[in-house]
Amino acid sequence: MKIAVLISGTGSNLKALIDAQKNREFKSEIVLVLSNKDAKGLEYAREAGISWAIIKTDEEMLQELESHSVDFIVLAGYLKKISSKILDKYENRIINIHPSLLPKYGGRGFYGLSVHEAVFKNKDRESGVTVHYVNEKVDGGEIILQEKIDISKCNSPVEIRDEVLKIEHSILKKAIAKIEEEI
Ligand code: GRF
Repeated sequence: MKIAVLISGTGSNLKALIDAQKNREFKSEIVLVLSNKDAKGLEYAREAGISWAIIKTDEEMLQELESHSVDFIVLAGYLKKISSKILDKYENRIINIHPSLLPKYGGRGFYGLSVHEAVFKNKDRESGVTVHYVNEKVDGGEIILQEKIDISKCNSPVEIRDEVLKIEHSILKKAIAKIEEEI
């Protein structure tokens, strides 16, 4: 598959995917990195010599995806909703990583630290990460992989976030490899 990775922030998941690609942990190639803003994580694309762009509209996004012959999209900390235009074009070919055990703490309002704040407030003893297909329902598509961790020793939402992020960095590449086997 020719993959585009979409980011909005620090891009640590993108970095983990670039490293996994170098180590041949999946067969696909990351051909493009897109962001809706001048995200810090774009630096990883530059370092790795991967094409990248900042896109503001659906038309710009589609143009980039098409000109790089992208056939699969990975949302790795991309904070904008994907429009129905892109969803139609890439049906069942867009996946997202979400830092909770979906369906818990999913949907509108649950993004970034707010997920971990809610988990902390509820005194949950475990949390985790989910990779799922993207459809019109925010965080509502079919689950591909999910991993749990014990967070009973975490004393703040930030500590929970850091623990969850560690497993995020290994699950996305596994999800890509799993999809490669299925198609
Ligand atoms: C991750 O927690 C991801 O699950 C969420 O946004 C964060 C992105 O982190 N959707 P990074 O930009 O990959 O460092």
